[in-house]
Order: sequence, then C-alpha cells, then structure tokens
Amino acid sequence: MYRFMNGSTHELAAREIALKAIPDDPRVWVPQAPNVYFRPMFLNTVTGQWCNLLKVTRSGILSRHIHPSPVFGLVMKGKWHYFEHDWIAEEGSFVFEPPGEVHTLNVPEYCDEMITFFNISGCMVYLDKDNKQIGYEDVFTKIDMCRAYYDKVGLGADYVDQFIR
Ligand SMILES: [Fe+2]
Repeated sequence: MYRFMNGSTHELAAREIALKAIPDDPRVWVPQAPNVYFRPMFLNTVTGQWCNLLKVTRSGILSRHIHPSPVFGLVMKGKWHYFEHDWIAEEGSFVFEPPGEVHTLNVPEYCDEMITFFNISGCMVYLDKDNKQIGYEDVFTKIDMCRAYYDKVGLGADYVDQFIR
C-alpha cells in the first residue's frame, strides 16, 4: 500500500517542500514596493493559496486591503499593526485575519525591519481610502512577479518553479 514511503505515498501526490526560510542569497527576496519584499515558499496553483515571508525595511503605511479568505501570520522579526485594531503584532505573534475585513497595515516608526510569515488564500484586494479597488494580488501575479525578477537578477525565471505546486 505505501509503496513510496521514502517520498509521497502516491506518485500523483505533490512533492514536499523543505527550505531555509531566510535565504542566504538576498536575490530570493522579490521587491513588491519600495522597501517591501516577499520571499516565496509555497505557491499553490490548485487552491490559490500561497505562503511567503513579507519583509519591510521602512516604517509607515504599507497597504489598505481586504481579502475574501482567511490569512494566517507569524511574526519572525519586528512589529506591525493594523490601524483598525489596538493590538500590535511583534516577534513571535500569531495573527488570524478573518475573511472580509478591511485593514490598513502599518509598521511603527521605531521599527526599521519586520519579517512576517503569511499563509494567504484567494487574493489580496488593495483599496484606497474610499474602499475603491486599486489593485490585487493572487498566486498567479506572485508567480509572474517572481519569474520576471528572478530572470532579471540572474537566478533564472524558472527558479520560482521549486515553490509551485
Ligand atoms: Fe490582511
């Protein structure tokens, strides 16, 4: 029955991923805005979910957004908060963001770098102050960003393939 015990239990099962979350090569961090980077780890084209690290090396407002599916986060370094809530996520904090909530991510002035693991499903819908959509991201836009950037920095567009299932 378990003929493939040294790997997956079935040849159709997805391959595992095990990697060093903070990469040795800084080129693995994909810029997504000035002083904002993401490090892809798992890009799921079947369910539309993705896992990445978000790194921010400045203080200030990052994004106002809504997502239709839950988001789970674990802070690895630094601090951040949402203007809509009175808690602060800091190193070691776990965060659950319920679907449908609009919130505005802010990195406080005294924090010069934050890194947070996020497990996101569906999409991130970016909003202006009047809640009008000004952009979105999903697993496919993330893959496209990675391909373009990895090609540009010499890792090769297909470097991202190791994270895709
Ligand atoms: Fe969010």
